Amino acid sequence: MTGRPRGMVTRGTTHPNRLRRVDRWLVATCAGRLRAAADPLVVDLGFGATPVTAVELRARLAAVRPDVRVVGLEIDPERVAAAEPAADPPALTFARGGFELAGLRPVLVRAFNVLRQYDEPAVPDAWAAMTGGLAPGGAVVEGTCDEVGRLACWVLLDAAGPRTLTLAARLSTLDSPAELAERLPKSLIHRNVPGEPVHALIRALDGAWRDAVPYAAFGPRQRWQRAVAALRDAGWPVVDGPRRWRLGEVTVPYPGTAAGAP
Ligand SMILES: C[S@@+](CC[C@H](N)C(=O)[O-])C[C@H]1O[C@@H](n2cnc3c(N)ncnc32)[C@H](O)[C@@H]1O
Repeated sequence: MTGRPRGMVTRGTTHPNRLRRVDRWLVATCAGRLRAAADPLVVDLGFGATPVTAVELRARLAAVRPDVRVVGLEIDPERVAAAEPAADPPALTFARGGFELAGLRPVLVRAFNVLRQYDEPAVPDAWAAMTGGLAPGGAVVEGTCDEVGRLACWVLLDAAGPRTLTLAARLSTLDSPAELAERLPKSLIHRNVPGEPVHALIRALDGAWRDAVPYAAFGPRQRWQRAVAALRDAGWPVVDGPRRWRLGEVTVPYPGTAAGAP
Protein backbone atom coordinates (compact mmCIF):
# COMPACT_ATOMS: atom_id res chain seq x y z
CA MET A 1 0.00 0.00 0.00
CA THR A 2 1.34 3.43 -0.95
CA GLY A 3 -0.22 5.93 1.47
CA ARG A 4 -3.75 7.20 1.08
CA PRO A 5 -5.72 5.78 -1.88
CA ARG A 6 -6.17 8.40 -4.59
CA GLY A 7 -9.74 9.27 -5.48
CA MET A 8 -13.13 9.44 -3.76
CA VAL A 9 -15.89 7.01 -2.88
CA THR A 10 -18.73 7.14 -5.40
CA ARG A 11 -21.95 5.19 -6.01
CA GLY A 12 -21.28 1.47 -6.14
CA THR A 13 -23.87 0.47 -8.74
CA THR A 14 -22.98 -2.67 -10.63
CA HIS A 15 -24.74 -5.62 -12.25
CA PRO A 16 -23.88 -9.17 -13.31
CA ASN A 17 -22.62 -9.31 -16.89
CA ARG A 18 -22.67 -5.55 -17.18
CA LEU A 19 -19.09 -5.49 -18.42
CA ARG A 20 -19.24 -8.45 -20.81
CA ARG A 21 -18.69 -6.26 -23.89
CA VAL A 22 -15.46 -4.74 -22.65
CA ASP A 23 -14.30 -8.09 -21.25
CA ARG A 24 -14.88 -9.78 -24.59
CA TRP A 25 -12.88 -7.02 -26.28
CA LEU A 26 -10.08 -7.30 -23.71
CA VAL A 27 -9.83 -11.03 -24.35
CA ALA A 28 -9.69 -10.43 -28.11
CA THR A 29 -7.38 -7.44 -28.27
CA CYS A 30 -5.23 -7.53 -25.12
CA ALA A 31 -4.53 -11.28 -25.04
CA GLY A 32 -1.02 -10.69 -26.40
CA ARG A 33 -0.15 -8.30 -23.56
CA LEU A 34 -1.46 -10.75 -20.98
CA ARG A 35 0.32 -13.74 -22.51
CA ALA A 36 3.61 -11.84 -22.71
CA ALA A 37 3.45 -10.51 -19.15
CA ALA A 38 6.17 -11.66 -16.77
CA ASP A 39 3.54 -11.41 -14.03
CA PRO A 40 -0.07 -11.98 -15.22
CA LEU A 41 -1.51 -9.45 -12.79
CA VAL A 42 -4.71 -7.55 -13.65
CA VAL A 43 -6.46 -4.87 -11.58
CA ASP A 44 -10.20 -4.28 -11.60
CA LEU A 45 -10.33 -0.75 -10.22
CA GLY A 46 -13.55 0.34 -8.53
CA PHE A 47 -15.43 -2.98 -8.57
CA GLY A 48 -18.39 -1.48 -6.73
CA ALA A 49 -20.99 -2.63 -4.21
CA THR A 50 -20.53 -6.30 -5.10
CA PRO A 51 -17.50 -8.03 -6.65
CA VAL A 52 -19.50 -9.77 -9.37
CA THR A 53 -17.80 -8.12 -12.35
CA ALA A 54 -14.34 -8.84 -10.87
CA VAL A 55 -15.28 -12.51 -10.55
CA GLU A 56 -16.41 -12.48 -14.20
CA LEU A 57 -13.24 -10.72 -15.35
CA ARG A 58 -11.01 -13.33 -13.73
CA ALA A 59 -13.01 -16.18 -15.33
CA ARG A 60 -12.87 -14.58 -18.78
CA LEU A 61 -9.15 -13.79 -18.65
CA ALA A 62 -8.31 -17.26 -17.37
CA ALA A 63 -9.29 -18.52 -20.83
CA VAL A 64 -6.29 -16.54 -22.17
CA ARG A 65 -3.90 -17.11 -19.30
CA PRO A 66 -4.94 -19.71 -16.72
CA ASP A 67 -2.54 -18.32 -14.11
CA VAL A 68 -3.97 -14.78 -14.31
CA ARG A 69 -4.37 -13.05 -10.96
CA VAL A 70 -7.08 -10.42 -10.66
CA VAL A 71 -6.98 -7.95 -7.79
CA GLY A 72 -10.19 -6.02 -7.25
CA LEU A 73 -9.34 -2.61 -5.81
CA GLU A 74 -11.89 -0.37 -4.16
CA ILE A 75 -11.48 2.95 -2.45
CA ASP A 76 -14.38 2.12 -0.11
CA PRO A 77 -13.10 -0.23 2.64
CA GLU A 78 -16.62 -1.51 3.38
CA ARG A 79 -16.92 -2.75 -0.21
CA VAL A 80 -13.54 -4.47 0.10
CA ALA A 81 -14.75 -6.25 3.24
CA ALA A 82 -18.05 -7.19 1.60
CA ALA A 83 -16.18 -8.72 -1.36
CA GLU A 84 -13.97 -10.96 0.79
CA PRO A 85 -16.23 -14.05 0.64
CA ALA A 86 -15.80 -14.07 -3.16
CA ALA A 87 -11.99 -14.13 -2.91
CA ASP A 88 -10.22 -17.16 -4.34
CA PRO A 89 -6.53 -16.53 -3.68
CA PRO A 90 -4.25 -16.23 -5.49
CA ALA A 91 -6.50 -16.07 -8.57
CA LEU A 92 -8.84 -13.41 -7.18
CA THR A 93 -8.24 -11.12 -4.22
CA PHE A 94 -9.58 -7.78 -3.03
CA ALA A 95 -7.82 -4.82 -1.48
CA ARG A 96 -8.24 -1.16 -0.77
CA GLY A 97 -6.75 1.14 -3.37
CA GLY A 98 -7.30 4.04 -5.73
CA PHE A 99 -5.82 5.43 -8.93
CA GLU A 100 -2.31 4.74 -7.57
CA LEU A 101 -3.23 1.02 -7.89
CA ALA A 102 -2.09 0.38 -4.30
CA GLY A 103 1.48 0.12 -5.56
CA LEU A 104 0.71 -2.91 -7.75
CA ARG A 105 2.30 -3.23 -11.23
CA PRO A 106 -0.45 -4.85 -13.32
CA VAL A 107 -0.28 -5.55 -17.03
CA LEU A 108 -3.96 -4.63 -17.44
CA VAL A 109 -6.28 -2.32 -15.54
CA ARG A 110 -10.02 -2.24 -16.12
CA ALA A 111 -11.58 0.90 -14.61
CA PHE A 112 -15.23 0.92 -15.56
CA ASN A 113 -17.90 3.39 -14.44
CA VAL A 114 -15.40 4.96 -12.04
CA LEU A 115 -14.35 8.28 -13.59
CA ARG A 116 -17.90 8.87 -14.76
CA GLN A 117 -18.72 10.30 -11.34
CA TYR A 118 -15.71 12.65 -11.22
CA ASP A 119 -15.35 16.09 -12.76
CA GLU A 120 -13.65 16.23 -16.16
CA PRO A 121 -10.51 18.05 -14.83
CA ALA A 122 -9.80 15.02 -12.62
CA VAL A 123 -9.29 12.78 -15.64
CA PRO A 124 -5.68 13.56 -16.70
CA ASP A 125 -4.25 12.96 -13.21
CA ALA A 126 -6.26 9.75 -12.81
CA TRP A 127 -5.09 8.49 -16.19
CA ALA A 128 -1.47 9.41 -15.41
CA ALA A 129 -1.61 7.66 -12.03
CA MET A 130 -3.03 4.48 -13.55
CA THR A 131 -0.75 4.32 -16.58
CA GLY A 132 2.23 5.24 -14.37
CA GLY A 133 1.59 2.11 -12.34
CA LEU A 134 1.54 -0.30 -15.27
CA ALA A 135 4.05 -3.04 -15.88
CA PRO A 136 6.05 -2.69 -19.14
CA GLY A 137 3.74 -3.30 -22.10
CA GLY A 138 0.66 -2.76 -19.95
CA ALA A 139 -2.60 -0.98 -20.72
CA VAL A 140 -5.59 0.60 -19.00
CA VAL A 141 -9.14 0.28 -20.27
CA GLU A 142 -11.26 3.09 -18.88
CA GLY A 143 -14.89 3.50 -19.80
CA THR A 144 -18.55 3.80 -19.10
CA CYS A 145 -21.67 1.78 -19.82
CA ASP A 146 -25.36 1.74 -19.01
CA GLU A 147 -26.83 -0.25 -16.13
CA VAL A 148 -26.95 -3.58 -17.96
CA GLY A 149 -24.12 -3.08 -20.45
CA ARG A 150 -26.25 -2.53 -23.53
CA LEU A 151 -24.28 0.59 -24.51
CA ALA A 152 -20.60 0.94 -23.66
CA CYS A 153 -17.68 3.18 -24.61
CA TRP A 154 -14.08 2.83 -23.55
CA VAL A 155 -10.61 4.25 -24.03
CA LEU A 156 -7.46 2.14 -24.25
CA LEU A 157 -4.47 3.91 -22.69
CA ASP A 158 -0.85 2.95 -22.41
CA ALA A 159 2.21 4.72 -21.08
CA ALA A 160 2.03 7.16 -24.03
CA GLY A 161 -1.58 8.21 -23.28
CA PRO A 162 -4.96 7.49 -24.87
CA ARG A 163 -4.72 5.31 -27.97
CA THR A 164 -8.17 4.23 -29.06
CA LEU A 165 -11.86 4.77 -28.42
CA THR A 166 -14.28 1.85 -28.78
CA LEU A 167 -18.03 2.23 -29.12
CA ALA A 168 -20.06 -0.92 -28.49
CA ALA A 169 -23.79 -1.59 -28.50
CA ARG A 170 -26.32 -4.38 -28.30
CA LEU A 171 -27.55 -3.94 -31.83
CA SER A 172 -30.94 -5.62 -31.35
CA THR A 173 -32.07 -2.71 -29.19
CA LEU A 174 -30.14 0.15 -30.80
CA ASP A 175 -32.27 2.87 -32.39
CA SER A 176 -29.38 5.10 -33.33
CA PRO A 177 -25.61 5.28 -32.66
CA ALA A 178 -26.23 8.74 -31.20
CA GLU A 179 -27.46 6.91 -28.08
CA LEU A 180 -23.84 6.00 -27.41
CA ALA A 181 -23.00 9.67 -26.77
CA GLU A 182 -24.58 9.43 -23.29
CA ARG A 183 -22.10 6.70 -22.40
CA LEU A 184 -18.90 8.36 -23.59
CA PRO A 185 -16.06 8.30 -21.06
CA LYS A 186 -15.73 11.35 -18.84
CA SER A 187 -12.89 12.68 -20.99
CA LEU A 188 -15.22 12.95 -23.99
CA ILE A 189 -18.80 13.23 -22.77
CA HIS A 190 -18.70 17.00 -22.40
CA ARG A 191 -17.03 17.28 -25.81
CA ASN A 192 -19.94 16.00 -27.80
CA VAL A 193 -20.53 19.50 -29.17
CA PRO A 194 -20.00 20.96 -32.65
CA GLY A 195 -16.34 21.56 -33.47
CA GLU A 196 -15.08 18.68 -31.34
CA PRO A 197 -13.68 15.54 -33.04
CA VAL A 198 -15.85 13.15 -31.02
CA HIS A 199 -18.97 15.04 -32.07
CA ALA A 200 -17.96 14.71 -35.71
CA LEU A 201 -17.38 11.00 -35.19
CA ILE A 202 -20.78 10.34 -33.60
CA ARG A 203 -22.51 12.42 -36.26
CA ALA A 204 -20.73 10.58 -39.05
CA LEU A 205 -21.61 7.18 -37.56
CA ASP A 206 -25.19 8.23 -37.03
CA GLY A 207 -25.45 9.46 -40.63
CA ALA A 208 -23.93 6.24 -41.94
CA TRP A 209 -26.43 4.24 -39.86
CA ARG A 210 -29.32 6.22 -41.35
CA ASP A 211 -27.97 5.72 -44.87
CA ALA A 212 -27.69 1.99 -44.17
CA VAL A 213 -31.41 1.67 -43.45
CA PRO A 214 -31.97 -0.60 -46.50
CA TYR A 215 -29.75 -3.16 -44.74
CA ALA A 216 -32.10 -3.21 -41.73
CA ALA A 217 -34.11 -5.82 -43.61
CA PHE A 218 -31.16 -8.19 -43.09
CA GLY A 219 -30.95 -7.40 -39.38
CA PRO A 220 -29.24 -4.74 -37.24
CA ARG A 221 -25.88 -6.52 -37.46
CA GLN A 222 -25.78 -6.14 -41.24
CA ARG A 223 -26.86 -2.55 -40.90
CA TRP A 224 -24.11 -1.76 -38.35
CA GLN A 225 -21.46 -3.45 -40.46
CA ARG A 226 -22.55 -1.48 -43.48
CA ALA A 227 -22.54 1.78 -41.49
CA VAL A 228 -19.03 1.21 -40.11
CA ALA A 229 -17.71 0.23 -43.54
CA ALA A 230 -19.15 3.48 -44.90
CA LEU A 231 -17.51 5.41 -42.07
CA ARG A 232 -14.16 3.88 -42.97
CA ASP A 233 -14.73 4.49 -46.68
CA ALA A 234 -15.41 8.14 -45.88
CA GLY A 235 -11.89 8.39 -44.47
CA TRP A 236 -12.40 7.74 -40.76
CA PRO A 237 -9.39 5.77 -39.56
CA VAL A 238 -11.32 2.78 -38.21
CA VAL A 239 -8.76 0.43 -36.68
CA ASP A 240 -10.80 -2.76 -36.32
CA GLY A 241 -12.52 -4.89 -38.94
CA PRO A 242 -15.67 -6.85 -39.76
CA ARG A 243 -15.05 -9.50 -37.09
CA ARG A 244 -15.44 -6.84 -34.41
CA TRP A 245 -18.11 -4.88 -36.27
CA ARG A 246 -20.42 -7.87 -36.35
CA LEU A 247 -20.37 -7.77 -32.53
CA GLY A 248 -21.65 -4.20 -32.58
CA GLU A 249 -18.25 -2.58 -32.01
CA VAL A 250 -16.16 0.02 -33.74
CA THR A 251 -12.71 1.18 -32.64
CA VAL A 252 -11.02 4.37 -33.83
CA PRO A 253 -7.89 6.27 -32.77
CA TYR A 254 -8.70 8.40 -29.74
CA PRO A 255 -10.52 11.51 -31.02
CA GLY A 256 -8.34 14.57 -30.97
CA THR A 257 -5.05 12.69 -31.35
CA ALA A 258 -3.12 13.07 -34.59
CA ALA A 259 -4.24 9.63 -35.76
CA GLY A 260 -7.89 10.34 -34.94
CA ALA A 261 -9.01 12.70 -37.71
CA PRO A 262 -10.67 11.55 -40.94
C1 LIG B 1 -20.41 2.66 -10.29
S1 LIG B 1 -19.30 1.61 -9.42
C2 LIG B 1 -18.67 0.64 -10.75
C3 LIG B 1 -18.66 -0.81 -10.44
C4 LIG B 1 -18.17 -1.71 -11.58
N1 LIG B 1 -16.84 -1.35 -12.01
C5 LIG B 1 -19.11 -1.64 -12.76
O1 LIG B 1 -18.77 -1.00 -13.76
O2 LIG B 1 -20.21 -2.19 -12.69
C6 LIG B 1 -17.92 2.72 -9.10
C7 LIG B 1 -17.05 2.26 -7.93
O3 LIG B 1 -15.76 2.87 -8.06
C8 LIG B 1 -15.28 3.18 -6.78
N2 LIG B 1 -14.25 4.19 -6.94
C9 LIG B 1 -14.41 5.49 -7.26
N3 LIG B 1 -13.21 6.10 -7.35
C10 LIG B 1 -12.28 5.16 -7.12
C11 LIG B 1 -10.87 5.17 -7.11
N4 LIG B 1 -10.19 6.29 -7.34
N5 LIG B 1 -10.23 4.03 -6.82
C12 LIG B 1 -10.91 2.89 -6.56
N6 LIG B 1 -12.25 2.81 -6.56
C13 LIG B 1 -12.92 3.95 -6.85
C14 LIG B 1 -16.50 3.62 -6.04
O4 LIG B 1 -16.31 3.56 -4.64
C15 LIG B 1 -17.57 2.67 -6.57
O5 LIG B 1 -17.71 1.55 -5.73
